[in-house]
Amino acid sequence: MAGGITEFLLKHTGLCPVSFHMPGHKGSRLYRQLGYGQFLDHIMDCDITEIPGADNLFQTEGIIQETQEKYRELYDVRKSYLLINGTSGGLIAAVLAAVEPGDELILARNCHKSVFNALSLGNIKPVYAYPQEEERYGIAGVVTAEEIEKIMEAHPQAKAVVLPSPNYYGICSDIAAIAEVVHKYDGVLIVDQAHGAHLKFMKDQPQAAEDCGADIIVDSIHKTLASFTQSAVLHVNSDRISLPILEDGLQKIESTSPSYLLMASLDLSAEIIREHGTQLFEKWQENLDEFYRKAENIPGLRLLRECSEKDGSMDQTKIDLDMSALGISGARLEEALMERNIFCELTTGNILMCMTGIGNTKADYDKLLEALQEIAAQESRGRQTTQDVPKDLEKPENLEHTKTSENPASLKIPWNKKRPLHSAAGETETEDISRCSGRICGASIIPYPPGIPLVCPGEVLDEEDIQYVLRLRERGENVIGIDEQNRITVISEPR
Ligand SMILES: Cc1ncc(COP(=O)(O)O)c(C=O)c1O
Repeated sequence: MAGGITEFLLKHTGLCPVSFHMPGHKGSRLYRQLGYGQFLDHIMDCDITEIPGADNLFQTEGIIQETQEKYRELYDVRKSYLLINGTSGGLIAAVLAAVEPGDELILARNCHKSVFNALSLGNIKPVYAYPQEEERYGIAGVVTAEEIEKIMEAHPQAKAVVLPSPNYYGICSDIAAIAEVVHKYDGVLIVDQAHGAHLKFMKDQPQAAEDCGADIIVDSIHKTLASFTQSAVLHVNSDRISLPILEDGLQKIESTSPSYLLMASLDLSAEIIREHGTQLFEKWQENLDEFYRKAENIPGLRLLRECSEKDGSMDQTKIDLDMSALGISGARLEEALMERNIFCELTTGNILMCMTGIGNTKADYDKLLEALQEIAAQESRGRQTTQDVPKDLEKPENLEHTKTSENPASLKIPWNKKRPLHSAAGETETEDISRCSGRICGASIIPYPPGIPLVCPGEVLDEEDIQYVLRLRERGENVIGIDEQNRITVISEPR
């Protein structure tokens, strides 16, 4: 065997892991069950290029056009584009189509890093909209229509707005209200729906941005539905955007060798929704309902099922677990589940997020429930022997909520700070982060996941940011923008 990546992957599949992380298909089972196994059997043979008859992603007239048309119909929009560089690529092209170089873009401060990349690629100035704080967990909550209106009033020249909904934890903003505000100011609304491609088809979940008046919506079909990683779809839903300019942007940022495997998987995912969607989405909802019902009885387990702001709603296909009442941080819970071959998507402080997808079966949810019951019981027994049992732990409603910042196992995330913003132009240098308090950041510092820049170019770092990044590093978490010697890029100071 080749070793390295291949060996890792084969070893991992050998564990028969339960996937509560991306992608949404959760392995070959779904395709085979639904009769698409032939494609999997010939996967290498299907890896072709633009031979005659195979159409061209950037000049669609044939088979790719047909798949785009399937998506246009499914999502009931004006035009759909297949993406082979994920929602990341779609967001960059959307921003470049909506904002002229040198102009301003209103973006939620918790946008994905691809939106920040669009700023530097397009020489676009950021105007930040700050999301509410989801107070119980110290994480980003909704972006309100009031916040957007306030900013649009103050920046009449800024004509495009972009925000994520659902965000990584499943919190959805009121897109219909935001679209109304944006259009009142003659702007364009781009919704990063990377985590919500399924919303259009699930009755008991928040409304999809496609149905709420957003102008451009980008859906990572791979995250929750049935296509391969990196495949996504961009929808144009109004005539406020010039299609030739958008198409030019897509050409600029996407590979000129688009993978037919990714595009075929998008085709199959559309087919699966068309042919089997009704029963698959009903079953998914049924499994979730049963999971939540049973999970409520696990002592010490809390679930973030509703968001605390009046303007938001939760996409409950993301299961946000919290066992901090038993003294278990998100990271420790993740480890305990991994020991049982259950792999999750994201931890932040006390939350462990399990990302469900169209390919999860009832057995997956049952295994997760069983593991959580076992972990809770083990932890409670451990506490009894050390005589450290919180009273009334049996009933979740009796659990006094521990704020993230009060829990010794977690970190307060300085994500929502309004930092002074300077020009990021000029010479840069690398410097030990511990000596960077008060310095202007020259390259984004991005904990990954969730891929939201903690400090952006032009923002001034302070001691709290530095301590937070160092703690993440100590815990072995992935932080983009800091090297192995803990050095970051800052703007050089005048000599
Ligand atoms: C909120 C958000 N937007 C966009 C993206 C990028 O999506 P993709 O992986 O399809 O490029 C991510 C990735 O996780 C994300 O979390």
